[in-house]
Amino acid sequence: FMVDKGNHRHFMEKEIHEQPEVISHALGHYVNFATNSISPSATEIDFKDIPSLAISACGTAYLAGLVGKYWFERYARLPVEIDVASEFRYREMPLSPNQAALFISQSGETADTLASLRYCKENGLKIGAVVNVRESTIARESDAVYPILAGPEIGVASTKAFTCQLAVLASLAIGAGRARGTLSVAQEQELVRHLTEIPRIMAHVLNLIQPQMEQLSRDLSKCKDVLYLGRGTSYPLALEGALKLKEISYIHAEGYAAGELKHGPIALIDENMPVIVIAPYDRFFEKTVSNMQEVAARGGRIIFITDERGAAASKLPTMATITLPDVNEIIAPMIFSLPIQLLAYHTAVFMGTDVDQPRNLAKSVTVE
Ligand code: G6P
Repeated sequence: FMVDKGNHRHFMEKEIHEQPEVISHALGHYVNFATNSISPSATEIDFKDIPSLAISACGTAYLAGLVGKYWFERYARLPVEIDVASEFRYREMPLSPNQAALFISQSGETADTLASLRYCKENGLKIGAVVNVRESTIARESDAVYPILAGPEIGVASTKAFTCQLAVLASLAIGAGRARGTLSVAQEQELVRHLTEIPRIMAHVLNLIQPQMEQLSRDLSKCKDVLYLGRGTSYPLALEGALKLKEISYIHAEGYAAGELKHGPIALIDENMPVIVIAPYDRFFEKTVSNMQEVAARGGRIIFITDERGAAASKLPTMATITLPDVNEIIAPMIFSLPIQLLAYHTAVFMGTDVDQPRNLAKSVTVE
């Protein structure tokens, strides 16, 4: 069917702003709003007795899976093995039929992801697919299909599919936690209550930070290299921030686990390379701030993406501080996706690149 840009300059911008609405569709499928519990649609794979879960995907979908790993391990005490599909398919990983595997793909057609799925199927694993296109090959070949309900995503750089993948993975992890007895009913209700707040908070944040993101992008568009740092679930977000920026603005960007700063990237720090630190006020905050200190001590310019408590707690000088509302840890990855998407988007717009169709990239990679 026809999809148009509405009042937006690019599909990417439209898709960023659609997130509150599509996330609420996605949640509607996995969450019972009346009881604040996870719906049976999230527990199609029986997570109860499996020893571990394998996750495989490419690009942004892989980074959603990396956030999912933290959630499955924390809330369901389920060990997760995750790899990019192009490695996973050839690693000759020992697998056993009592394991389950999850494949995450917006299009449901990515060649490497499909090959990984077939490898797991041959080994007798139970297969789940987190997809946007329900009629896709990956969906068809899976035992359980978890639609992300993001609607058509046209911009090559994934935005709403990423946050919908996250919402679905969070729901699956909570459902797995209940099935495995690692979360109580009360804990499930508490986590689900936070999930249901995502659409409202996203809509608020999109309005709140828009002007600042546009202004900051002007400075970012003059840079040659940008470093993103994060810890915990903010680490995959740092990788996603760097991926988004390089994909559409062609500025060289790298994402690192904040604790790895000392093991390499610190050598690059000078006043020309902005360091974007993603740090909600969570149990990693102080650690990340000490990494930030190391950047500041070397004259690095910091763009600090944090929340109100984080902004109040850090006294370090920054080039800019983006202050989001305080949110629960489980929804922070979805909320903190917004500034990194907007920063990449507006930087690309300033640079005059083809935002929706960046050079050399394809929306769906069906060849190896
Ligand atoms: C391409 C797209 C990315 C996407 C990746 C995986 O590289 O440009 O945006 O994340 O493929 O695609 P999939 O459809 O499997 O999620």
